[in-house]
Amino acid sequence: MQIAMVGSGYVGLVSGACFADFGHKVCCIDKDAGKIEALKAGKMPIYEPGLAELVMTNVRQNRLTFADDLSAVRGAQAVFIAVGTPSRRGDGHADLTYVYQAAREIAAAIEGFTVIVTKSTVPVGTGDEVERIIREARPDADFAVVSNPEFLREGAAISDFKRPDRIVLGLEDQRAEAVMREVYRPLYLNQAPILITNRRTSELTKYAANAFLATKITFINEIASLCEEVGANVQDIARGIGLDNRIGAKFLHAGPGYGGSCFPKDTQALIKTAQDYGTPVRIVETVAAVNDQRKRAMARKVLSACGGSVRNKAIAVLGLTFKPNTDDMRDSPAISVITALQDAGAKVNAFDPEGMEQARHYLDNLNYCSDPYACCKDAAALVIVTEWDEFRALDLGRVKSLLSEPVLVDLRNIYAPDEVRRQGFKYLSIGRYEANGVVVAQV
Ligand code: UDX
Repeated sequence: MQIAMVGSGYVGLVSGACFADFGHKVCCIDKDAGKIEALKAGKMPIYEPGLAELVMTNVRQNRLTFADDLSAVRGAQAVFIAVGTPSRRGDGHADLTYVYQAAREIAAAIEGFTVIVTKSTVPVGTGDEVERIIREARPDADFAVVSNPEFLREGAAISDFKRPDRIVLGLEDQRAEAVMREVYRPLYLNQAPILITNRRTSELTKYAANAFLATKITFINEIASLCEEVGANVQDIARGIGLDNRIGAKFLHAGPGYGGSCFPKDTQALIKTAQDYGTPVRIVETVAAVNDQRKRAMARKVLSACGGSVRNKAIAVLGLTFKPNTDDMRDSPAISVITALQDAGAKVNAFDPEGMEQARHYLDNLNYCSDPYACCKDAAALVIVTEWDEFRALDLGRVKSLLSEPVLVDLRNIYAPDEVRRQGFKYLSIGRYEANGVVVAQV
């Protein structure tokens, strides 16, 4: 099976490398010639655990190639569109410029029966428009347009791809189904369920999945705030409800609010689509608003831990990316927390294992540090914003001796309150009943 992947960003590159690893011949294409050159030299444009090794192995075995033009589309049985669909400035709709441009270019290049597969997250109805564009450009062409959303999590993308909970295919053509089943045959043999729906259903499934997960997180975050007021423990509640199979244990970690390249953008796009069709998704509208508010409110926790003011104080922040094992800063809670701290007059020291280069595009006037301890030096509080593994076992004695005040604000609940307090810290976390039955006012 010959596959062309148009767009070699996060989704295209991971999917392309995994398809190649299954034995298909894959060409990953991108307009950015610099990126393609770098990929040919083994340099990844993103940080994703295991990706560089996977790419290099498949390049060596001649299953994976890279190109900055669409010549590889000729002769491919399946052509994936995996270009970006950012939020359109101003109205929050998904910007489909790159998808439609890719469709026009693919139309010019296809030969023989070709399945064009939209992997980019696209609003319901986009597949119809892709089909119309190709048909208009090439009335003679033999093709079918399929929707096949991805459900990869950054930081775990390769294992998510190779062991998916399900594969969703939106198609209305039997020949296309045969091609797609062949594309996913290795996973099919691994017993991954394949769900075949019509194209619009598949497109909407992706948005429904992300909006539901964003809702689950926001729900537990609001319960966490309530816990702080009433003296309950959100982690026990998450377990108490999560063991109910109807609810499920995952995505119930309370924290500073969700961020990343998908949830904020996709909830916005779903909200817009639903409004356009006159059936607003009010729960999702509320989720998005509550989450935005929460990210900003997290700085208040730090202020209260510091006696009400951070003016002219240094604050140490560990973790900048929206979650661990990525260098992605998009919509990271750290941006809201740090900006609010700076607005309140604080000087911020920061450390992140992978995100510091990207952070420069999102934050100004940060004092970047070489490691967590350098970050703590003379700071009035340590704030953990992202739960990188290397922050889970800090030498707290050393941290305490470096800080000017022994204050730890843990926005990811990675420390045990009793233990940290025993070491003499003032410790604030998220939604946890505090030691000896006393509820500490947290916000
Ligand atoms: C998400 C979806 O999980 C994935 O299926 C989709 O394809 C793309 O969007 P991703 O954005 O990579 O993946 O990260 P994810 O692990 O889902 O986390 C998203 C955000 O939610 C992060 O900010 C994370 O910190 C937060 N989160 C997640 C919580 O606050 N609590 C949780 O319990 C889970």
